[in-house]
Order: sequence, then structure tokens, then C-alpha cells
Amino acid sequence: MELTDAIRRRRMVRNYTDEPVDPAVVERILSQALHAPSAGFSQGWAFLRLDSANDVQRFWAATTPAGAGSDAWSAGLRRAPVIIVPLSSKEAYIERYAAPDKGWTDRDEARWPAPYWDIDTGMASMLMLLAVVDEGLGACFFGIPPERIDTFRTEFGIPDTFKPIGAISIGHRAADRRSPSLKRGRRGLADVVHHGQWNSASGTTTAG
Ligand SMILES: Cc1cc2nc3c(=O)[nH]c(=O)nc-3n(C[C@H](O)[C@H](O)[C@H](O)COP(=O)(O)O)c2cc1C
Repeated sequence: MELTDAIRRRRMVRNYTDEPVDPAVVERILSQALHAPSAGFSQGWAFLRLDSANDVQRFWAATTPAGAGSDAWSAGLRRAPVIIVPLSSKEAYIERYAAPDKGWTDRDEARWPAPYWDIDTGMASMLMLLAVVDEGLGACFFGIPPERIDTFRTEFGIPDTFKPIGAISIGHRAADRRSPSLKRGRRGLADVVHHGQWNSASGTTTAG
């Protein structure tokens, strides 16, 4: 599939059929994540792969309150046979940038203009979302509620040095309800691009 097609076709899919996903496909999707860029090539990410019914059930039990899951959003999402949890490691970046070629030996967090560990893990997640489209499947990136992160950590033995940035459900697409958020409409280039100057009147001249 052409990259442009994959980008345009990608949608967060919140309803899946019961059909399992071939483990080789999951492997290919995860492999694509490894090609994401990362600051200093730190690669401070990890991916928890949950693709058995038991592991997926453990994920939902750990990340949602008892009794949750019967509403349409949850029921559709919970049918996904695969969950990948992307995790980021701030420590890996602090460590990498203390190396001689970077020289931030004081390990001062104030040096970081943005949390590159989360950014890079997000980039890896985006590659997985696109790989999913390329495989003819659907996926949804969604948040793990902050109050459930400790339970999640305990359930899956996640070390303190890694933090989940969200979760990605993967499966065969079923008819989906349109997300109410989409009513907001996609912002246009003129709205978001500041060409040469923040207050430029014309936005941009690039077509698209
Ligand atoms: C960081 C992030 C967190 C998100 N969290 C959720 C979520 O918790 N639940 C959900 O249903 N969708 C979640 N989404 C999906 C967005 O709602 C979705 O991307 C947006 O409405 C645009 O729709 P589209 O991705 O299908 O184009 C999240 C997306 C991102 C990038």
C-alpha cells in the first residue's frame, strides 16, 4: 500500500470481529515500530505484547474498574484479540545522553526541551498504527487511566523504569460507530500552519 493511502485510511477502530490475528502479522507490526526515530538513537521504548485471550482479559481487568466494559465503546474494543502496550523509559534517555558523545553528565532533566522518551515511543506507536492499516487490520490507540497504572504495573511485572504511554488494540475491523470527537472536523492547513510568521494572514500556499 502507498504511504499516502495508509495515512489517509488510518482511523482509530473501536469495534472488532472475533477473528484472531495471525501471530506473524503481530510480529511484522511490532518490527515496524523498531524503525521509529529516537533522540540520540536511545530507543528507550518497550512493547508489552498481549495476544492470548487470557492476557488480554488480564489487561482489561487491570486497567478498568470491576464491572466496567459493557458499554458499546468498551465492548467493541474488548473484542480486539491483540493489545500492545508501548512503554517509554526516561532513564534510558538520561543514561544515553550522559555518554561521552552527548556529554550531559549532570543528568539534569531541565536540559530536555520536551519528554523525548514519550515522543519517540509515540512515533513508534504511529508506525504500528500505519503498519496495521498496511496489514488490512484496524487499531485504536487509547489511554490507560492514571489511577490504574500501578495495578497494570503489578499485573504484568513492569519495572519502575518504564511507563506505559497508552495501549493499542489490534484486530479485524467490524462496523464502527463514528467517534463523536470527529464532529469537531479536521483542522485545515491554513488553521494550523504559520507560514514564516505566527500571525501570517495567508497560512500556507501548499496545496493539500
Ligand atoms: C494520545 C492519544 C490518546 C487517545 N486516547 C483515546 C482514548 O482513550 N479512547 C479513544 O476511544 N480514542 C482515543 N484516541 C483516539 C482519538 O480520539 C482519535 O485519534 C481522534 O478522534 C481522531 O480520529 P482518527 O484517529 O480516527 O482519525 C487517542 C488518540 C491519541 C493520539
